[in-house]
Amino acid sequence: MQRQTIKWEEEIKPLFPEESLEILVETTRGTVRDVNLDNAATTIPFSAVNHTVFEFLKTYGSVHRGSGQRSVVSTQSYEQARDRIQQFTGASLDSYVVFTKNTTEAINHAAQLWSRIPGKVLVSDIEHSSNLLPWLAGNEVVQYRTNPNGTLNVEDVEEMFRTNDDIKLLAITGSSNVTGYKPPIHDLAEIAHKSGAKILVDACQLIQHQKVDILPTDDPRHLDFVAFSGHKMYAPFGGGVLVGPKEFFDRAVPYQIGGGNLTYISRDLQLKRFPTVQAHDPGTPNAVGAISIAKAIEVLESIGYDRIHKYESGLVRTAIRGLKQIDGVEVYVSESELGSVIPFDIAGMDSRLTAEILRDDYGIGVRAGSFCTYEFMRKIKELVLK
Ligand SMILES: Cc1ncc(COP(=O)(O)O)c(C=O)c1O
Repeated sequence: MQRQTIKWEEEIKPLFPEESLEILVETTRGTVRDVNLDNAATTIPFSAVNHTVFEFLKTYGSVHRGSGQRSVVSTQSYEQARDRIQQFTGASLDSYVVFTKNTTEAINHAAQLWSRIPGKVLVSDIEHSSNLLPWLAGNEVVQYRTNPNGTLNVEDVEEMFRTNDDIKLLAITGSSNVTGYKPPIHDLAEIAHKSGAKILVDACQLIQHQKVDILPTDDPRHLDFVAFSGHKMYAPFGGGVLVGPKEFFDRAVPYQIGGGNLTYISRDLQLKRFPTVQAHDPGTPNAVGAISIAKAIEVLESIGYDRIHKYESGLVRTAIRGLKQIDGVEVYVSESELGSVIPFDIAGMDSRLTAEILRDDYGIGVRAGSFCTYEFMRKIKELVLK
């Protein structure tokens, strides 16, 4: 059988605007083409996303407010985006797709609503600050210690549930932003559900690489809450998503209230709430963010996750093999656990200096620092330096 290869020039390049791929930068070695290896932080838009946004803006009008033509068209596009996201994630009709500005806001939203419910939130020690700090503000948090390389054992998580009988929610990353490791989220969902708890998956490093299937609510392996950001999936227009059970949201006084989220106020200042998704969508929404995510989904689906995986895994494998051949380079992820991120160091060099040299001498953009995962950083550095 002939091996199918994915060609950058023919298949990947046309997905993006030419001008954003051809940025020239001055380096100490002359002018070179900018090489951006920092896509785990954020991504540039697909050309199709730009086009959709541009077209949408021609008839842009107030969402959920006016009765004029612009308002009708914009509201329709906004609600269609919500439906598109619902289908894409496999969320049941008993779920709400709530728009947020990013994953951080989505998790803060969930954490605020969960803080009104008794019990503990179980988090792992490889979480990004955005899936740790929001829980600390108002919820009792227990932390699960992953293995020294940041992977987890399902049995150990089960043990956490056995020894803490009041865990209400497991909040876990779908893919580590440091190593790309993907915890077995559906197995973990089953464990959480057996103990009467729910699961929230921070999918913002997963959804651009792999299908995230929430599964029907009667499946014990279903995901209760999923959060992600448009800007990490080629739709950087300020949109994010929190998917969760309708019944959970309907029960709660919304995280934020104000104009447009269907909270009626009587003359004697009594609040009357309406159980709809819009009740969790206060103020004029970011319709551009929403429709850009829906378009990015369409593009991802048309490429197909198999092809995305094949292309990305080819790139990271080539990169890790090359890195390992360079003297002094220490790689903090094994090839068997390789996702789409490669954490590395150069012995004796400050990582920020490495990043600056890559930029100034080679025009290569990487990221240095703790990546908002302080505990995980401490762990993996110990692992290699021992
Ligand atoms: C795993 C993970 N969770 C959450 C976030 C926060 O995402 P945002 O900045 O879009 O809110 C990031 C961002 O890098 C991340 O990598």
